[in-house]
Amino acid sequence: MKEKQTLTIALSKGRILEQTLPLLAAAGLQPAEDVQTTRKLMVDGDFHGQPVRFLIIRAADVCTYVEQGAADLGIAGRDSLLEYRPQVYEPLNLNIGRCRLCVCGPKALVEAGAPARGSRIRIATKYDHLASEYFLSQGVQAEIIHLYGSMELAPLVGMAERIVDLVETGGTLRANGLVEETTLYDISSRLIANPASFATKREAVGQVIEGLRQAVEGNVVGEGA
Ligand code: PRP
Repeated sequence: MKEKQTLTIALSKGRILEQTLPLLAAAGLQPAEDVQTTRKLMVDGDFHGQPVRFLIIRAADVCTYVEQGAADLGIAGRDSLLEYRPQVYEPLNLNIGRCRLCVCGPKALVEAGAPARGSRIRIATKYDHLASEYFLSQGVQAEIIHLYGSMELAPLVGMAERIVDLVETGGTLRANGLVEETTLYDISSRLIANPASFATKREAVGQVIEGLRQAVEGNVVGEGA
């Protein structure tokens, strides 16, 4: 009998993992140990008798693992897909991790109006390409200051006039005296797939997509109930 090939699935660490686990469980994807507490970065698991392994990595790295073929499938935010534009398939919107990518700034500055065409401003962000693209479209000369997190601090210390960052509840903005100026994109998590895996592991990949599709539909129905 032909041995089943292991399927590798990259999961994002952090707050999104909590919302991912019920979907995995509903689809029949079962890690052999608690991926939220383990210090292991690779955890074995099972999908209806099909061997699976889960990679537990940073959100921004999921695209790279899937694009390189180190993972067959992955769960990545639309923000990362838009920023890095990896060569991957995107078969399913998982409808979790919902938030928005916004331009934000100190209340007084935002109330004074959007930056004028031809003006120069400093933007703190980890979304260098998306921020550059947006301000270019507005005719504003943006100096991008790349940060890895806690973007909301930059305007408070006078390092930037605006930030481009994710907003979920708005709590971090409020706590730091910032407000939203413009929403650039609505964001949610997507299932992504390596194009070659689609061909070489067609059956298993297809079954995971279908299992997750049904789990997402159940989730959406459940949300409204
Ligand atoms: C994200 C994001 C904002 C915050 C928004 O950061 O970058 O800072 O969440 O959420 P809220 O609108 O519900 O307050 P995260 O906590 O993931 O950490 P990071 O700053 O290290 O990216």
